[in-house]
Amino acid sequence: MAFLADALLRIKPSPTIAVTDKARALKQAGRDVIGLGAGEPDFDTPDNIKQAAIEAIRRGETKYTNVDGMPELKAAIARKFKRENQLDYKPSQISVGTGGKQVLFNALMVTLNPGDEVIVPAPYWVSYYDIVALCGAKPVVVETPMEDGFKLKPEALDRAITPKTKWVIFNSPSNPTGAAYTRAEIKALTDVLLKHPHVWLLTDDMYEHLVYDDFEFTTPAQVEPNLYDRTLTLNGVSKSYCMTGWRVGYAGGPEQLIKAMATLQSQSTTNPNAIAQWASVEALDGPQDFIAKHNAIFKERRDLCVAMLNQATGLQCPKPDGAFYVYPSCAGVIGRKAPSGKVLATDEDFVTELLEAEGVAVVQGTAFGLGPAFRISYATATPTLEEACRRIQKFCASLT
Ligand SMILES: Cc1ncc(COP(=O)(O)O)c(C=O)c1O
Repeated sequence: MAFLADALLRIKPSPTIAVTDKARALKQAGRDVIGLGAGEPDFDTPDNIKQAAIEAIRRGETKYTNVDGMPELKAAIARKFKRENQLDYKPSQISVGTGGKQVLFNALMVTLNPGDEVIVPAPYWVSYYDIVALCGAKPVVVETPMEDGFKLKPEALDRAITPKTKWVIFNSPSNPTGAAYTRAEIKALTDVLLKHPHVWLLTDDMYEHLVYDDFEFTTPAQVEPNLYDRTLTLNGVSKSYCMTGWRVGYAGGPEQLIKAMATLQSQSTTNPNAIAQWASVEALDGPQDFIAKHNAIFKERRDLCVAMLNQATGLQCPKPDGAFYVYPSCAGVIGRKAPSGKVLATDEDFVTELLEAEGVAVVQGTAFGLGPAFRISYATATPTLEEACRRIQKFCASLT
């Protein structure tokens, strides 16, 4: 009898964490390695947010809170939804968890039965696929190729919907491509969903604030209010506020769903860290000006990566509107030979040989459901990024 649960066979360790671990191990062994695998801002958490946490500790805010978020944070989240997204969510419609990932996990866990289908546009953030699979449901992957800007087309969405479809997962700006949907593009998708009243929409707005060149962020329930009753709007403080380690994420949605998510959370982690919740109140209510400063730097780095990667032989790198990722195609180098003698048959070969030859760690596109490509996180110091892109150019030039 196998000791481990069958459900575990349906999931795999996060490939982005695997790349980061491999890069760290090589570094420890003395290799000069640049890691571009991690999906977190290199900026520190702003001081006012840290200060709010310190004050919370001093006040003794060190006890359990309400399971799915303390009232003060839910109120700050409600204000945020109203101010930034023109969405009305009452505290009873808001769920706070230990990172956006837990909120996503709760939502899928309390709604999916074996046999249910969830539409996951690819390239996708790896956790969508694996959490759906863990629940025993079926991820229905719809590929969104580079030629379509890595964006789901309404016809493709319509074709993928069956009577078994429970959710569509939507993520803009996207991890891993950085693609962001305009209001009109969202409207075209929500029009499709209006025709299918049994399908719910889970929108992951985690990278909401990380958009460039005057791109205007909008979220589906705002664009199509008729979908409000079957939309879960997921967000968090991790990326915009440089708080990945604090572990606070949240969502707004229909009360019945939010209540079920709280029940599940009450039997797993209970409330998210109380001190991090106080820090999150400050993040959402406090000054927001640092976001624009960070974005100016991110935009510069994005432009640097796009320009340098497009100069690399065999790579093709579209310019995304948001997040801190670029997703170049490496189709042009498949079949070539690396300096080690290895023929690059897949994007996984490409990233493995790149790490070996030039010490640059990136994540292969097939891990996100669409290759041959790779993801670069440009949330790293500009000179380091420039050096990494130079090494990628050198590696591509060395292929025969
Ligand atoms: C698209 C997307 N959604 C959600 C998350 C989860 O964020 P958190 O760190 O708050 O769990 C991430 C983190 O990488 C992400 O990229």
